[in-house]
Amino acid sequence: MEILKKTAPRGKLLALDLDSDAVIRFEQKIKENDLRPRVVTVNDNFAQIENIIREKAFVDISGIIADLGFSSWQIEESGRGFSFQKDEPLLMTLDGNGENLTAYEIVNSWPEDRLKEIIREYGEERFAGRIARTIKESRRREKIATTKDLVAVIEKAVPGAYRRAKIHPATRTFQALRIAVNDELANLRIFLADAFDALRPNGRLVVISFHSLEDRIVKNFFREKKQVGRAEVLTKKPLTPSNEEIKSNPRSRSAKLRALTKI
Ligand SMILES: C[S@@+](CC[C@H](N)C(=O)[O-])C[C@H]1O[C@@H](n2cnc3c(N)ncnc32)[C@H](O)[C@@H]1O
Repeated sequence: MEILKKTAPRGKLLALDLDSDAVIRFEQKIKENDLRPRVVTVNDNFAQIENIIREKAFVDISGIIADLGFSSWQIEESGRGFSFQKDEPLLMTLDGNGENLTAYEIVNSWPEDRLKEIIREYGEERFAGRIARTIKESRRREKIATTKDLVAVIEKAVPGAYRRAKIHPATRTFQALRIAVNDELANLRIFLADAFDALRPNGRLVVISFHSLEDRIVKNFFREKKQVGRAEVLTKKPLTPSNEEIKSNPRSRSAKLRALTKI
């Protein structure tokens, strides 16, 4: 909404989200605010940005912003198993249709080695080996069907002190599964390259990330573009939310915003 306000009266916005529910909710909002004529909405993966821009005939693009990850609505209301505090089916699909890979499939059928690898790599979880082994042992007896089942398995796998730590012991494994289900890191790499190419000179690329794996990819991409003289990085250090913002929106606490201008 703010982008549309700032680009009034003629700026056009191409808004895309993988989750059809998010697109529908956004469409309602812009209709209520009489902004429909300046907005094109697309329900697709941002890794497809090159094709989408071409199909929708957007040219001379002055800015692209990506707000990565998942939304509060997806955590609280989608019923797709993003939260370890709820008891929901193990989907974790951002696109909302259970036809693609789901967390259920990963947890109940991937080999122990692969489980360990994604939990370690995407979750940066030091007990990845123990968790993967316990998942394999548990699913032999009974399928791990819901988030609650998975939390119980993780709690069984990790040492007592870790169970009582400030961060919930399932946090990292849930992050790993979500990244794997949605192929988030590969999609981000494709998006960055294609979004940068699509910008006009002096156009800006802004990315808000929510965990260190994403932020590292963004930081490295920006650095590479700077080194070959194709970009000026506007954020030497990433922008982070103020204490006030974190108070009013605790989920913003891990956000990091980086921006560049294309030369
Ligand atoms: C942090 S939320 C964005 C919230 C949004 N800025 C708002 O104010 O409502 C992240 C959104 O990105 C979407 N998303 C994540 N990965 C995506 C991808 N590869 N392609 C398209 N959308 C994606 C999610 O479905 C989610 O709705």
